[in-house]
Amino acid sequence: MTLPKFLSLPVLLSASVLLLGACSNNVGDPHPDKLMTKRVVIFKKFTKALEPMGLVARDRRDYVKAEFVEQAQALKDLSTQPWVYFSADGNYAPSRAKPEIWLQPDVFKSSKERYLAAVDKLAQVAGSADRPAINAAVDEVQKSCKNCHDQFRSETARSQ
Ligand code: HEC
Repeated sequence: MTLPKFLSLPVLLSASVLLLGACSNNVGDPHPDKLMTKRVVIFKKFTKALEPMGLVARDRRDYVKAEFVEQAQALKDLSTQPWVYFSADGNYAPSRAKPEIWLQPDVFKSSKERYLAAVDKLAQVAGSADRPAINAAVDEVQKSCKNCHDQFRSETARSQ
């Protein structure tokens, strides 16, 4: 069998890559408002925003004041956004969010507040060129992400 010319292999390949990309964020979220998908999209932006600052803190990238200030501000702008999607009806499979978020709301809240405080601090010192303070602030942000994940994010998606 020969394929029509416009269905060359590269065309087919890129079409399937596009389809896969589109699916990974949508399929498997049964909620009509896609709460899980929405919060995960923001969490992935957390990672993207934090990454370059992590490299600076580990001396694997130069500290450029204007850039760093912008990155810290971007993370701060994102930092308040995912929580609204953990509403009372947000506890469902196949999320990685543990039911403890809804069972121990006070503990979840204090982990979130630790994170928000850490991001605020980072935004405050970002333009100071005080490298030890900047490194410590990045470190505390990373620890506060991990603190919440250790308690409230499971390794794999829940099946129910
Ligand atoms: C107060 C809790 C909390 C904080 C703080 C937090 N996260 Fe998360 N994070 C979660 C939960 C819960 C999920 C799972 C969401 C779901 O599957 O519904 C998650 C999911 C993620 C995901 C998506 C992974 C996946 O595919 O399921 C990424 C990436 C992520 N977080 C990165 C970060 C980074 C980076 C930070 C800090 C800059 C951070 N998070 C701070 C609770 C938190």
